Amino acid sequence: MLSNLVKWLTGAAKTAEASMPPPHNALLNSLLVMAWFVESRDPYTGGHLWRVSRFAKILSEALELPVAEVARISLGGFLHDLGKIGIPDAILRKPTALTEEEYALMRTHPEIGWRMLAGHPLAGLVKEAVYSHHERPDGLGYPRGLTLQEIPLEARIVGICDAFDAMTSSRPYRSGMSRGQALAILHSQSGKQFDSPLCKRFIALGRAGALDHVMGHSDDGIPLQECPMCGPTLVVRREQQPGEHIFCRNCGGDFILHNTDQQGLSAQPTGQQGEVRDLQPEADIPLIKRVLDEAMSRMPIAELLAFPLLNARSDVVANRKVLS
Ligand SMILES: [Fe+2]
Repeated sequence: MLSNLVKWLTGAAKTAEASMPPPHNALLNSLLVMAWFVESRDPYTGGHLWRVSRFAKILSEALELPVAEVARISLGGFLHDLGKIGIPDAILRKPTALTEEEYALMRTHPEIGWRMLAGHPLAGLVKEAVYSHHERPDGLGYPRGLTLQEIPLEARIVGICDAFDAMTSSRPYRSGMSRGQALAILHSQSGKQFDSPLCKRFIALGRAGALDHVMGHSDDGIPLQECPMCGPTLVVRREQQPGEHIFCRNCGGDFILHNTDQQGLSAQPTGQQGEVRDLQPEADIPLIKRVLDEAMSRMPIAELLAFPLLNARSDVVANRKVLS
């Protein structure tokens, strides 16, 4: 009888173990979910984290970084704005340009993110993307005013991708720029706001159309849709079906999804407003799981834990590639 009990307990423990995500996945998953909720406070940034993560992956791959590094930098792109949790709604959602005082507060978000991550077992993986993505090669960035190569590679990559997405996305006070306009601004800021060789590589990717499938999208193959009142704020999720309702996070407008021949699901306004319950933020868990699974399949635990070495190596690799 005792041996049966031991056998049952062992079996039960194995089943429980098999159904639980590995601890590193669970730890990273909680960070991605947190980042999602932080982003959802700003109704105009639907899909921003996903796009920055994809742009960072495309640029890192073009630099021929090791696959584990590509995965880590892409995760950093997803998590870079974690610190915006500490920025008041009145500033985050302000429909007009920020005053100097408000901008000073906004500039605290990298440091808040860095402090949030302090003590997290996997902080080293994404800390620099979070802490240093607003640093500039000319030393005029924040929070530390680092210059050129002092800025960790992932932060230089994420900084370019973040700015490109901000420029090509619509804001309450302006429509998103065209790809060409945004690339021209990157070019004009090359060596000042953005790392020059990385910028050159990113602009070449943009001109070749390698970023088009991410621009204006919130998931692979899923473009943002237009709210007639607010612009492209509507995020359709991969798992959604015709007949489901989605809501504009800015004006609360209610939309129903229809199937169309040309572009799959299309959101049509119903003329109604969403209820309080409809407008609550909700993480896209399947998308987060896909982002995480993709990263973890390329980022073995051993390499993950050996991160400081990996980072040093990839900086060398990247500098060699971009300068060649
Ligand atoms: Fe930021």
